[in-house]
Amino acid sequence: MVKKGLFITFEGIDGCGKSSQIDLAAEYLKAQGIDFIKTRDPGGTPLGCKIREILLNYDGHVAPMCELFLYLADRAQHIEEKILPALNEGKIVLCDRYVDSTIAYQGYARGLDKEQILELNNIVAKGLMPDLTFVFDVSLEVSASRLGDKKDRMESECCEFHKKVREGYLDLAKKFPERIKVINADRGIEEIHKNVVDIVCDLYK
Ligand code: TMP
Repeated sequence: MVKKGLFITFEGIDGCGKSSQIDLAAEYLKAQGIDFIKTRDPGGTPLGCKIREILLNYDGHVAPMCELFLYLADRAQHIEEKILPALNEGKIVLCDRYVDSTIAYQGYARGLDKEQILELNNIVAKGLMPDLTFVFDVSLEVSASRLGDKKDRMESECCEFHKKVREGYLDLAKKFPERIKVINADRGIEEIHKNVVDIVCDLYK
């Protein structure tokens, strides 16, 4: 695997505001004339969109292992078709979720073995890890108020599930402080954006 670009991932519980932040980060890079792509996991490719549809909207029981392998299947396609080619061309890749979502959601919250998830992810991702990861941290109350009434399959999980996801992210950030930066996302959107830009500029210079 050759890799010249920079791989930056945006993470957090549902309703944390990361999607607005990735859009603002993309606008910033565009204004600076920096070559980048913005993508998402799951659903960053045409095949991935079909997998995302199953993951978020299937209305029957989904076995946790099946869920895990669907996220990983999406990622395998995403990496080969989109992420690695962009990195190899020297671009910045802004990705809405990646492996930390899998560890937080399927590991910490769903209860699957975290080491095993990492091993499987390593096979799928050919060892590709982000250079920088933002975890947008908000309270469950704030995230719930942002989600509205129409929730997908994952958003509809109980409060305890989302609490475990949040704790999972904070735990991961403690384990990998060099890579994972926790951003207090209870603040105004522009203030958070400035925080993100400062950290990206530090890494890019
Ligand atoms: P999104 O709506 O932020 O794009 O995320 C899709 C949902 O999928 C969100 O609830 C988090 C969840 N998810 C996992 O459970 N495991 C994963 O590996 C990924 C990438 C997302």
